[in-house]
Order: sequence, then structure tokens, then C-alpha cells
Amino acid sequence: MNFIRTAFRVLLLAIVVAGLTACGQPGTRREQAPVVAPPAVNAEDGTPAPAHDEVAGWAAVESGIHGDATRGKALIAKYECNRCHAGTGQPAPDFLHQCVGCHQRIEARTLPFPKEKLDEWRRQTRHYITTPSLAALGRTLRPSWVVSFLHEPVKIRPHEEEWMPQLRIPESDARDMAAFLTMGAEAPRAASMADADAARGKEIVSRKGCFLCHEFTGASRADVTMEVPPMAAEAFATGHSQAPDLRITRARFRPDALAKWIRDPSSVRDGALMPALGLTEEEARDAAAYILSTPLAPEPPPEPPLVRLPVLERHVAYEEVAARVFRRSCTHCHADPGPNGDPGPGSTGGFGFAPRGVQLLSFPGTQLGFIADDGVRRSLFAREPALDRLGGTRLVAALVARHEEVAGRPVPEVRGMPMGLPGLSPEDIQLVETWVSEGAPRL
Ligand code: HEC
Ligand code: HEC
Ligand code: HEC
Ligand code: HEC
Repeated sequence: MNFIRTAFRVLLLAIVVAGLTACGQPGTRREQAPVVAPPAVNAEDGTPAPAHDEVAGWAAVESGIHGDATRGKALIAKYECNRCHAGTGQPAPDFLHQCVGCHQRIEARTLPFPKEKLDEWRRQTRHYITTPSLAALGRTLRPSWVVSFLHEPVKIRPHEEEWMPQLRIPESDARDMAAFLTMGAEAPRAASMADADAARGKEIVSRKGCFLCHEFTGASRADVTMEVPPMAAEAFATGHSQAPDLRITRARFRPDALAKWIRDPSSVRDGALMPALGLTEEEARDAAAYILSTPLAPEPPPEPPLVRLPVLERHVAYEEVAARVFRRSCTHCHADPGPNGDPGPGSTGGFGFAPRGVQLLSFPGTQLGFIADDGVRRSLFAREPALDRLGGTRLVAALVARHEEVAGRPVPEVRGMPMGLPGLSPEDIQLVETWVSEGAPRL
């Protein structure tokens, strides 16, 4: 198999050129960022739209969302959504471009490498192993929410560190992609929730083991003993990591499909990761009413800005920064261009981004700087007055900006890094900042 051989060569190259890092967990777990509501206006008369069909208005909101599905399909190819997601309507990219595909093979130990090597990689590969499939998205998700999410992603699955990355997607592109992804779904209809009882639903959801997997931030729960549903350990682990915070469900899920989903997820979408838990039709309707309508406490206040630590009073050379930060968190997005493999979207371009030329996995690469908006290469380590409040240099500012993005305060001047992952710890940022303050030396 050709791609395995190529993969072999590339991985070998990666080992030789970059060396391999010790395992460990960079970044800190963050609480979920504020949830942004979808465009919540009634298309007909501009009045605020209801959150669900009890007020029979959601269908009007969704029919007001239009996009060009043919263009959407082409955009999904342009943004390379298939590098991380199945079910995009695009064939899988070649193996060396599959972020998730390769990580899954590392996890499953099915690459042709010695066991020790695979075990080591397996310990180091923590992210982008499981991502939601986008197949038949319109059976569950509201197009209006998909539009707002692609434009400005929020955290969905609180037990998983990686986010959908903040790509530079204008709203018109988001609409067209949402139109393609939800194409062919049934037209929205009112669901008969009239006799559903949210109070009973609260009791059912609290008792049936739903909170083993789900958070429901800001909602009150019933004080009852939880039944533990019989489930294989592995199915439970995946289900737990992939379970959305039910707080955002009222903004994103089709209310007319919710009760059916709760009863039997696979009857709504093939391959659903949530098990059927044996609820009756009536119980599922009550549970849906609770999820859609129980009052929610206001969002917790956003995280305060990161407090940067003073630079270290010791020498820091490239290798230490590479081992602790670049090879651990920037890998596969910022490599040097070479004969094999893909240097990554932050280097030669990808995910819809133009090449920015940021190469962090070799010392000479770091000295080349980045390609600025005017097409000119500039240093990653030079002071840019516009970035002073974020640490002053492009490299440090990108790391500080990620903390701001996660706290719901995106920074216009610079994109937060590591893209789609939790911000680095203050100690790791301090290390990078010390290295930069010493002139980013090799030795
Ligand atoms: C680098 C990998 C990556 C790329 C590239 C990517 N995504 Fe995602 N996407 C994710 C991850 C991870 C999540 C889950 C985030 C969470 O749970 O908070 C996600 C979630 C989603 C969701 C929500 C689905 C659900 O069931 O919750 C949609 C819709 C989506 N992505 C669409 C897209 C589209 C369209 C593109 C291309 C424009 C794209 N993604 C590109 C990683 C990626
Ligand atoms: C050919 C296989 C392969 C491909 C393709 C690949 N990776 Fe990796 N990835 C690995 C291995 C092996 C590791 C752990 C060892 C290392 O860092 O080299 C890793 C580690 C990582 C890490 C650091 C550890 C972690 O989980 O946070 C990130 C981030 C990462 N990859 C992101 C990506 C992204 C984004 C893409 C797509 C642009 C990608 N990878 C494509 C094999 C791959
Ligand atoms: C084993 C873990 C697990 C259990 C237990 C579980 N779920 Fe889920 N649930 C999931 C996963 C995973 C998803 C995401 C769907 C997917 O990716 O297939 C999900 C999706 C949902 C959604 C859609 C949320 C959204 O915004 O997309 C709702 C609503 C929901 N579950 C309700 C429930 C209720 C009610 C119960 C209890 C009767 C329950 N779940 C029990 C794992 C679980
Ligand atoms: C999932 C892929 C990915 C990961 C992981 C990642 N980057 Fe990036 N990075 C990108 C992309 C794509 C761009 C180009 C963004 C743009 O053009 O707006 C970029 C741009 C940058 C820039 C220029 C930012 C700007 O706005 O000018 C810096 C600096 C940078 N990355 C540093 C890092 C560092 C340091 C890490 C690890 C701690 C990292 N990146 C991890 C994908 C990634």
C-alpha cells in the first residue's frame, strides 16, 4: 500500500528531523466559552424568534435561512473540512492530509510500525481523534445555528479539549455550506409538545443516566438516584467524550426531531454515538420539554485575561522551546516544506488559509518569520506596537490571543494559537517569551 509507505517515510523523516517529545499534557482545561445564540429574529416580522416550537416560530426562522448548496459544496472542498470530518460529501483526502484519519490509526495501532513506536505516538496524540460526522446534519441541527457556528465556533463538547477551529469563514460562505450540509432534510414542522411536562422531564433525565455523559450548564436537576444504563466501557467512554452540553441544544437542535432522538438516536441519524436508553414515547417528550424550556442560569462571567508571568532569569535555547511547546502543540500545522507529506495549514496553507510560512519545527524555520497580509515576510520576534497589549511580538501575541478567543473575546490583530486547542499554560508562554526576549537563540 503506497500511502502506508509514504506515511512511513514521512513519519521517519519527522522523527529524524524533529525528534520526538515526551508525553504530557499542555494547556489547561477551560470552562466552555459563552454560547452565542443563532440569528434569533423572526424572518416574517423581525420579532424575536422563539427558542423552540412551543411558540411555533422556529420553522419560520429556518425557512428564512437560504444559501447556495452548489457553491457550498465547492466551499467545503476549499476549506478542506474533510481533513477532520467524515460525511462532508467529499472523498477523504490522501492519507498524509487526513488529520483525524492518521490520528485514528495511531490510536488503533494499525500503522506498520514497531509496537513501542506506536505506543509512544499514541501517548503523544491526544487531539483530533474523534470528530462529529457531518452526514445528514439537517436531520438534527438547525441551519441557522450551523451558519452562526461556522462563522464563530462555540464549544459544544465540554469533555473534549479540541474545538472546531476558528477558520476565516464569512457569513455568506457559512450560509452556502450550511445549505449544502442540511440539504435534503425534511422541512421543519411543529412537534406535538402540547401535553409534554418539563417538570416530569427533569426527573426522567436526572434518573435515566443522561448526566453520566452530558453537562447541562445552568440548568437545575432533580434530586433522584441515577440509574446506570448497561453499556460497554468503550462505548461509554466515547459517548462521554462526545456528548454536547445540553445548554446549547435549544439553539441548535431541531425541536421536531428531539423527542425521537432521545428515544432512539440511530433512528434519526445513522451512526449516532448516543445509545437508546429505553424511554417511552411520553418520557422522551417530557425529557425534550425539559431540555428545551427549563430556565437556565446566566452564563458564568468570562475568564479574565491571562496574567503573563515575568520572563525567566535564565537562558532559554531553541531546543527547550521546541520540546516543550512547538513539537508538542504546533506539530503538523507548522512544519518546514519538504519532499514528503504536508507541512501544514499554518506553513504552506490549508483549511482555506493562504500560506503564512510559519515554520516552527526546525530552528532555521523559526528564523524565516511569517508572511504578513501585504505578502512580505516579517520576523515573528520583532516588536509590533499594535500587539503590545498581547506581549508585543507576533509569536507571543498569538499564544495570548488564544486565551482571549477561548474566553469569547476574539482579537482582530492576530489569530489565537494553537488553533482549535486550549491555550498554553502561563509557564509555557513564559518560556516562549523568555526565548524571544533573549533574541530567539539556537543555543
Ligand atoms: C482541524 C479539524 C477541523 C476542521 C478542519 C474542521 N472541523 Fe468542524 N469540528 C472539529 C471539531 C473538533 C468539532 C467538535 C467541536 C466541539 O465539540 O466543541 C467540530 C464540529 C463541527 C460541527 C458541529 C457538528 C456537531 O455534530 O456538533 C460542524 C457543523 C462542523 N464542525 C463543520 C465543519 C465544516 C463545514 C468545516 C470546513 C469549513 C469544518 N468543520 C472543519 C474539527 C474540525
Ligand atoms: C501521517 C500521520 C499524521 C497526520 C497526517 C497528522 N498527524 Fe498529527 N500526529 C501524528 C503523530 C504520530 C503525532 C504524535 C507524535 C508527533 O508529534 O510526531 C501527532 C501529534 C499531533 C499533535 C500534538 C499532540 C496532540 O494531540 O495535541 C497535533 C496538535 C497534531 N498532531 C495535529 C494534526 C493536524 C491538525 C493534522 C492535519 C493538518 C495532523 N496532525 C496530521 C500523526 C499525524
Ligand atoms: C453514553 C453517553 C450518553 C448518554 C448516557 C446519553 N447521551 Fe445524549 N448524547 C450523547 C452523544 C455522544 C451525543 C452526540 C450525538 C452523536 O454524536 O451521535 C448525544 C446527543 C444528545 C442530544 C443532542 C444534543 C445536541 O445539542 O446536539 C440530546 C438532547 C441528548 N443527547 C439527550 C440525552 C438524554 C435525554 C439522555 C438520557 C435519556 C442522554 N442523552 C443520554 C451521549 C450520551
Ligand atoms: C490546527 C493547526 C494549527 C496548530 C495546531 C497551530 N497553528 Fe499556528 N497557524 C495555523 C494556521 C492555519 C495559521 C494561519 C492563520 C491565518 O492566516 O490567519 C497559523 C498562523 C500562526 C501564526 C501567525 C498568526 C497571525 O495571525 O499572524 C503564528 C505566530 C502561529 N500560527 C504560531 C503557532 C504556534 C506557536 C503554535 C503551537 C503552540 C501553533 N501556531 C499551532 C494553524 C495552526
